[in-house]
Amino acid sequence: MSTVQKKRVAILISGRGSNMVSLIEAAKAPDYPAEIVLVLSNRPEAAGLDYAAQAGIPARAVDHRAYPDRARFDAALDAELRAAGIELVVLAGFMRVLTPGFVESWAGRMINIHPSLLPLFRGTQTHGQALAAGVRLHGCTVHYVVPELDAGPIVAQGAVPVRAGDDPDSLAARILVQEHRLYPAALALVASGRARLEDGRVVFADGTDGPDGALLTL
Ligand code: GAR
Repeated sequence: MSTVQKKRVAILISGRGSNMVSLIEAAKAPDYPAEIVLVLSNRPEAAGLDYAAQAGIPARAVDHRAYPDRARFDAALDAELRAAGIELVVLAGFMRVLTPGFVESWAGRMINIHPSLLPLFRGTQTHGQALAAGVRLHGCTVHYVVPELDAGPIVAQGAVPVRAGDDPDSLAARILVQEHRLYPAALALVASGRARLEDGRVVFADGTDGPDGALLTL
């Protein structure tokens, strides 16, 4: 019997859900410090919902089109999360902007993965942005969510080289491999309390720059 205190986690998705799959797989380990107990999607057609349901995880759509404004959509999300006793919210390809009120109410308890080395290349089309900028290193970032889009204290980053001949699709594919390694490692840091927020920065329990795994490179 495992004695690990597992945090109750909800994953929010909008589509494919490959990061969600990597988190569900990682959470199967007996000593993983988080349990995925709910998957929500703002799009009923999201492929990830079927996968989660087949994995035996309650998976529901909260269709944003059914709500007159963002505040009421976010209230519906919040009700689902609280009814399920969620302790940590994990955004994984969730493509809706959340209201400041919702974000504040989950402050320090909500993380996101973004496909760039933040603070570079916020928003969408991050791989095209990276190619246009001519950077030699690109990657992905797991960060706490704050009201400002694609900002917030950084938990972990994964880097990949930009190669001659790369296009947005080839870069996206190489970075997705990193995302699938990085997100389970970052969630473990947060759920176990080894990474925590202090004065708006992430500090690690061992007092160092962070355990191995906070920065991954290919
Ligand atoms: C991932 O690359 C993720 O980093 C990105 O969407 C993709 C979702 O893929 N997220 C964002 O751009 C958030 N602004 P997935 O559904 O297969 O996990």
